[in-house]
Amino acid sequence: MPEVPLAIDLGCGIGIEVAALLEDGWSVVAIDQNVGAIEALKSLKSQDISDRLQILQTSFEELSHLPPSDFIFSFHSLPFCKAESFKSLMGLVSQSLKPGAILAATFFGPSDDWVKAGKATGVRSVDLKSFFSSCDVLHLQENEMDAPMTNGAMKHWHILEFIAKKRA
Ligand SMILES: C[S@@+](CC[C@H](N)C(=O)[O-])C[C@H]1O[C@@H](n2cnc3c(N)ncnc32)[C@H](O)[C@@H]1O
Repeated sequence: MPEVPLAIDLGCGIGIEVAALLEDGWSVVAIDQNVGAIEALKSLKSQDISDRLQILQTSFEELSHLPPSDFIFSFHSLPFCKAESFKSLMGLVSQSLKPGAILAATFFGPSDDWVKAGKATGVRSVDLKSFFSSCDVLHLQENEMDAPMTNGAMKHWHILEFIAKKRA
């Protein structure tokens, strides 16, 4: 039997992408600090994929290890890691990627309103290239826009889309 590839979702929320990865045949480690998110994920456990889903309720700041992985995904979650733990978290992510593995994540840049207000940790393109110097960058795009948050209030967004592949 071929080995089942392992994906990690960092800050998985209610698990929409986790469910898609499981559906696609991956094993998934789903990580989030939020109890509500984890409870939603547990409903996935009742399906026939329970042996491929590991749920970790923990904060990024408390993480000390990530298993070797084939894919790491994180959408709009990593910026909420506290600044003092951010570099260490990036080190764990980089180490976890097996040769040929893909990281697909979004980050906030320094011009983001939440970063400027100290509510999120910002990075520059050059920081990402440094954190992931063992990877080839496949996609790095910065987008800035004024757009509403989920509560309808306007916010200046500075988002970095980052996809990288660990070199062999
Ligand atoms: C904006 S939501 C995104 C959720 C999901 N990735 C999605 O796209 O729907 C951010 C998620 O990150 C989680 N999160 C925020 N700070 C975190 C931290 N320090 N450690 C672990 N998870 C965190 C939140 O609980 C939340 O589920």
